[in-house]
Amino acid sequence: MGMPFILLNLKTYTEGSGQRAHHIAEAAQQVAEESGVEIGIAPSYMNIHPMSMHYSLPVYAQHVDAAAPGAHTGSVTVEALRSAGATGSLVNHSERRLTLADIDAAVTQLRSAGLISVVCSNNIATSAAAAALGPDFVAIEPPELIGGTVSVSQANPEIITGTVDAVQRVNPSVKILTGAGIHSGECVKVAVDLGTAGVLLASSVVKAKAPISVLRDLVSKL
Ligand code: G3P
Repeated sequence: MGMPFILLNLKTYTEGSGQRAHHIAEAAQQVAEESGVEIGIAPSYMNIHPMSMHYSLPVYAQHVDAAAPGAHTGSVTVEALRSAGATGSLVNHSERRLTLADIDAAVTQLRSAGLISVVCSNNIATSAAAAALGPDFVAIEPPELIGGTVSVSQANPEIITGTVDAVQRVNPSVKILTGAGIHSGECVKVAVDLGTAGVLLASSVVKAKAPISVLRDLVSKL
């Protein structure tokens, strides 16, 4: 996996569904090819398999249930993600919080299946706790900045540096993504300069009139 890494979460935005989801995926693939920057996409479950077959982008789930195969109606298992062609999954996103036991189980099951885990945290302490579970990534995202126009890189760089220090003390093999309000190449540059491996973002691209323009700006200072 290349670094820096930009992971684009389509959430359940109308602008990130249907044909628009593919418009965004095509733009992300083009910018990844132009720039050489690794760009991943986290679409709705229904688009994981089609996107993993049609695009060269790594496709992630927005959530995974730590349920074993069996009588767990409605759950989305790691095995289902793997067979759909997913590269990995977000875990414990602020909009889909899990218990510590479920986070641990999800990370363990993703690792066993050879899939990448991105555990979302909301502050330095939860970043350190998440790192203790040995995920591939911890994504620090202050919930109050999610969906806004002021990025965490601008509003609270201390939470980024604090997370980098805390995670490295607990588990140096865990990489860090910065999220919440990321909207420009400057936001991405600050996140990388502060020691993280890239960014996790949604609205600035998904809700843009021209997603490709925002994506090109995001990689412009790398
Ligand atoms: O998963 C990333 C997301 O929570 C950040 O949202 O809209 O602030 O980029 P946004």
